[in-house]
Amino acid sequence: MAENAKPKRNRTKTAVKHGPHKCSSSSTYHSFLDAADVVLLRSQLLGWYDKEKRELPWRTTAMTETDVNIRTYAVWVSEIMLQQTQVTTVKDYYNKWMKRWPTVHDLAAATLEEVNQMWAGLGYYSRGKRLHEGAQKVVSELKGQMPQTADSLLKQLPGVGRYTAAAIGSIALGQVTGAVDGNVIRVLCRLRAIGADSTSPAVTEALWDLANTLVDPERPGDFNQAMMELGARICTPKAPLCSQCPVQTHCRASVGAFSSGNTETCSLCPSEPWDDELGVLNFPRKPAKKPPRQERTLSCVVIRRQEEGEDEYLLTQRPDKGLLAGLWEFPSLLLDGENSETKQKKLLCAEISRILGTRLTESLFQSVGEVVHIFTHIHQTYIVYSVCLKDGKTQTKTDNTQWLSRSALHEAAVSTGMKKVCVKPWCVVQRSPHTAQIKQTILALEAEKK
Ligand code: ADE
Repeated sequence: MAENAKPKRNRTKTAVKHGPHKCSSSSTYHSFLDAADVVLLRSQLLGWYDKEKRELPWRTTAMTETDVNIRTYAVWVSEIMLQQTQVTTVKDYYNKWMKRWPTVHDLAAATLEEVNQMWAGLGYYSRGKRLHEGAQKVVSELKGQMPQTADSLLKQLPGVGRYTAAAIGSIALGQVTGAVDGNVIRVLCRLRAIGADSTSPAVTEALWDLANTLVDPERPGDFNQAMMELGARICTPKAPLCSQCPVQTHCRASVGAFSSGNTETCSLCPSEPWDDELGVLNFPRKPAKKPPRQERTLSCVVIRRQEEGEDEYLLTQRPDKGLLAGLWEFPSLLLDGENSETKQKKLLCAEISRILGTRLTESLFQSVGEVVHIFTHIHQTYIVYSVCLKDGKTQTKTDNTQWLSRSALHEAAVSTGMKKVCVKPWCVVQRSPHTAQIKQTILALEAEKK
């Protein structure tokens, strides 16, 4: 049994109904009304955090940086990177970013291209763009001073919502406010057996109220990070380690005594009965996810063969709004239905001819394979073709195009989906059609991927 994840099998709903923890509209079932309980929970959680917390670069900066403007900027960067990205992935990106742009002034002076390049691989690229926009606003409109309260962070900075403002306010500025992110939603829903849709307005407000009640007034930043840490390491989505939880005695989900729900009068109880088998995992309850949209995109690896020197690849820049805004990719066309290979070659031939301002023939285009990349809301299949051109026909005639060598391509602001396309053997083997050399190239590419 995942430690305490499953309920005791012989527990019955009837027994629970008559147990000590039953929701009634006037009860404290979903809240913390006893001040002594709150004090105890704070000290248990912070005690655990002090022993168990991970040393993370932004935590060190928040504790040691004496300049409040730099501290606020540093925590802002970390919180934006941590939106939708795991701590382990963020660490390296964060260190590189802070080394290159240690202050908000440095970031404001960078170009969006440099920011996108630094962000490449982190995903959700609009986050980097918003950080850059925010830094430029701080410098040009706020005299270089980062906003100094959660409210003003929320109002002034693009990409900063309620959670991010509260996290920066508490961690960098010591403001006493709770902060509710995905991990904290799970912890609080379990602590207080909140089984209604966790995205509903009633649950959202209840969770913020709970977070504001619980936050430690002496150490708000540490308390909020301890809640996140608990959610990330102990109160995990699928296999919570309840027996190691420092606040288990406060948990209505874990003690196996949660109410079967008071659907009639309670907006925090589940509208459908909870599942006996799931125990703690009944919480939080989320609405069903929409399945990702299926998209198919034609992509063409256009290789410029030089008489001497490295081969180069044609890249085009995506529009500066929308998905993957401003990133570079192999020339691509979104398909709106099924097409034959002949039709696909025709479409790509016309597109590449347009970009290069020349008339290419369809027979130059070779179908080389498919690459699947999954975004949160899109299941993208790139149908890849390649074409190899001699130096002469390759002056681009449109804006937002460039030729890059293989090494430059690795450094460029190219999305992860496209990077998957360019690590495939079809990007390099054409010059050396000898089997041994092809094998060597493939092995080198595989090693590079690892
Ligand atoms: N997720 C969001 N903010 C975090 C932080 N400060 N520490 C760890 N995980 C986080």
